[in-house]
Amino acid sequence: MAGSVVVIGGTSGLGREVAAHYAAAGRDVVLTGTSGDRAGAVAAEVGARGLALDLSQPETIAGALADVGPVDHLVLAAIARDHNTTADYSLPGAVALMTLKLVGYTEVVHALLPRISSDGSIVVFGGQALNRPYPGSTTVSTVNGGVVGLVHTLAAELGPIRVNGLHPGIVGDSPYWAARPPEVLDAIAARTPTKRLVSMADITGAVVFLLENRGINGQNVAVDGGWLLL
Ligand SMILES: NC(=O)c1ccc[n+]([C@@H]2O[C@H](COP(=O)([O-])OP(=O)(O)OC[C@H]3O[C@@H](n4cnc5c(N)ncnc54)[C@H](OP(=O)(O)O)[C@@H]3O)[C@@H](O)[C@H]2O)c1
Repeated sequence: MAGSVVVIGGTSGLGREVAAHYAAAGRDVVLTGTSGDRAGAVAAEVGARGLALDLSQPETIAGALADVGPVDHLVLAAIARDHNTTADYSLPGAVALMTLKLVGYTEVVHALLPRISSDGSIVVFGGQALNRPYPGSTTVSTVNGGVVGLVHTLAAELGPIRVNGLHPGIVGDSPYWAARPPEVLDAIAARTPTKRLVSMADITGAVVFLLENRGINGQNVAVDGGWLLL
């Protein structure tokens, strides 16, 4: 395989970890964020190339990716979180996140498709708010459900390119959750069979498996320590 690894939402958190993993392995890595300056700075840190791309403006995506060359692996990890409830529904954040994940992710695949190698692969990030909603997760739970369907239709449409979904539980050392009070994280760990939260390293390992194992396709895989069992 001679193409690059493209990580959409690679300036932070789980996407950044995946970008760093592949850059350290000697792969040509392209990572994106909404700011070209930040993407360039993070890319310099991990040994990648940075691009500015805003998934909430889907008509700009193809242009932003115009000079990306051949692609072997594509990771769709970006998110702009929307805290929302049906009782107190706020439209701007809901529309932005729905657009970002469901239209934006799909448009990235559309734009890059002629450049993705026939034995290439795609991982789409959802999350376990799909199956375990929490107060304020209305939009997040909904888009994660959309990711399940997106993975199914992409895998059916794009073969032999493989497409899988990854649905993390609470990733305790990710920037979003690491900033939370320890007692919040401890309570979630206590009701998880493994008695620990999944880590960014756990998620990176799962991404690598889904991208590289040629037998797995069209799956939506939970990486959550068995959280839903308790
Ligand atoms: N962390 C967890 O515990 C957890 C749990 C379940 C699911 N997930 C899923 O895992 C993925 C990664 O989560 P994370 O916590 O690692 O995320 P994160 O640290 O918040 O990083 C989000 C990334 O998305 C980019 N981004 C934000 N708005 C964007 C936009 N409009 N267009 C394009 N890119 C945009 C950010 O770039 P800039 O900030 O540079 O613009 C950044 O690179 C997400 O899809 C999330 O739903 C995470």
